[in-house]
Amino acid sequence: MDIDPAWLPPAAFRAVGGRRTLVRGAGPLVDTVRGEVAAACERFGGRMVPEEARADLVLELTGDTGDEGFACVRADGTTTVTASGGPGLLYGLFHVVRLGEDAFRGERAREEHRPAVALRMLDHWDNVAVHPVMGQVERGYAGGSLFWSDGRARGDLERVRAYGRLLAACGINAVAVNNVNVHETEARLLTDRIGEVADIAGALRPYGIRTHLSVTFAAPVVLGGLPTADPLDERVRAWWAGATARVYEAIGDFGGFVVKADSEGRPGPFAYGRTHADGANLLAAALAPHGGTVHWRAFVYDHRQDWRDRTTDRARAAYDHFVPLDGEFAANAVLQVKHGPMDFQVREPVSPLIGAMPRTRLAVEVQATQEYTGQQRHVCWLGPMWSEALRFRPDGEVSAGRLADGLVAVSNVGDDPFWTGHPLAQANLYTFGRLAWDPAADPRAVLGEWIALTRPEAPARLEAGLRAVLDGSWRTYEKYTAPLGVGFMVQPGHHYGPSVDGYEYSPWGTYHFADRDGVGVDRSAATGTGYASQYAKPWSELYESPDTCPDDLLLFFHHVPYGHVLHSGKTVIQHIYDTHFEGVEEAEEARRVWAGLTDLVDPAQHARVADRYEEQVRCAREWRDQVNSYFLRKSGVPDERGRTIH
Ligand code: GCU
Repeated sequence: MDIDPAWLPPAAFRAVGGRRTLVRGAGPLVDTVRGEVAAACERFGGRMVPEEARADLVLELTGDTGDEGFACVRADGTTTVTASGGPGLLYGLFHVVRLGEDAFRGERAREEHRPAVALRMLDHWDNVAVHPVMGQVERGYAGGSLFWSDGRARGDLERVRAYGRLLAACGINAVAVNNVNVHETEARLLTDRIGEVADIAGALRPYGIRTHLSVTFAAPVVLGGLPTADPLDERVRAWWAGATARVYEAIGDFGGFVVKADSEGRPGPFAYGRTHADGANLLAAALAPHGGTVHWRAFVYDHRQDWRDRTTDRARAAYDHFVPLDGEFAANAVLQVKHGPMDFQVREPVSPLIGAMPRTRLAVEVQATQEYTGQQRHVCWLGPMWSEALRFRPDGEVSAGRLADGLVAVSNVGDDPFWTGHPLAQANLYTFGRLAWDPAADPRAVLGEWIALTRPEAPARLEAGLRAVLDGSWRTYEKYTAPLGVGFMVQPGHHYGPSVDGYEYSPWGTYHFADRDGVGVDRSAATGTGYASQYAKPWSELYESPDTCPDDLLLFFHHVPYGHVLHSGKTVIQHIYDTHFEGVEEAEEARRVWAGLTDLVDPAQHARVADRYEEQVRCAREWRDQVNSYFLRKSGVPDERGRTIH
């Protein structure tokens, strides 16, 4: 099957391709720009012009916009993009592509664009080998790996190149090519199999994307034959320095390492009585001479909890482990923090770690792969959720300061012909890239861009239809799944579909504590786990009391009776019933809207989405029925509207 062009169909280049264009400058990324323009011209009848000729579009390497920034201006019939670096020029070209005909109309005042965040990364949880339980891509819902096949790097990297191009067009500049859970085969990518990683890096490089590798903290033992991986042991430091130097011999612009240590059973510095700063700095020291970065994940918590122990709270863990280490991390170490304190639930507060470590570089990690948000069988466009998290300011001032130095998404892409399993999940990938470039951007405007690029010839009815099914889809998903921020209630292991008590007595620390009288987790400082006090004011005060806590997070922070009245005026129990009925109705309505677009969408794509809507509606009803009957039985409170609860 052909490669789906996603948001770069040929028609998206019509405006550029019909013009006389001059590209000025030299370097590999400038060559990429030239190649893009030349291909567009060939298709749409424009041409590349020499120096002295009149041009409609000039793309020029000059000025002082930083490596990735660019400026765009239109005067006297010429649109000019200038950039001081190759990546900036490429981003500038894609900017013009997004503008389409508008780029060539009238005059345009000079605008300068620079990414707000330097590290804009996708982490692939891909295994080289097919894992017996997780399959090839851990939490992957789009087929096998894009990079790895038959136990090694793909020989044909055409799709990887196409992927790099798509990523550059939404502003992403880094990719980690293997799972954070580094199994035996994958561990060797660091050493004797680095050539395969180099091949992938070679395919991504023309689009300004640096390649990163997940490594195991135990590498000196499992690969180097040393008796220890103690970060303060000289032999260990020398081993990492040597191994890293060899990586750079193979990949001169290698980005660095991603590490999951002392997390869900992975090896880490705790085994040697060392801190996570010791661990991260070990790798940072090995990378520093070469300009690399270590992304050290903060996902450290006790996954062997006893649910009766009310003092242990998984939500507290990252803050408790890492805040005392603020200031101890090397300059090229980046602490990678999940956006919420738990694990990519449909609704979580923003992690209190963000903002609490002013002397540490932070990257915020979100999940484009829809592990807990419908696994790419459900439509769940996450733009509004990410935007809320990215606009959050720890001190309450909505726009002050910067949230993080890096933004990372767990990738939702595989070898599926539509890239993302669910064709509409492409919108999540695009939106992530654009929000990483500008976290303050309006996600709905980004969605509009995605629609316009993906379907440049879309009639208004298609655009309206796509907006109707995507815009509110996150809220819809939230409505028919776990209520009011309480989270989980999913099938253990694979995390698809409802199981209200699925994780209730498990060691993973993911509880809702529902009983006959009430539901929710008391995380207040006064009577609960104290998690609420990990925030600065005003958030700590706001979350502390059920009277001020926002409704949508109420059960994350408080255990309340079913009759507790929300700010919305409804009781908790009635809210649960109502949202579950509404969520299903909204999913049914979206299915109906999609069905009405048959004549406007490519048949294979239409059919794929239509099939998935059948499953989404089935699953939404299952969620509704399980959640509503569970709470009806627990509480004994009937639905005030008398609807049938199964
Ligand atoms: C989740 C997910 C795991 C993953 C982990 C992580 O818990 O279920 O598959 O390994 O996150 O982020 O490391």
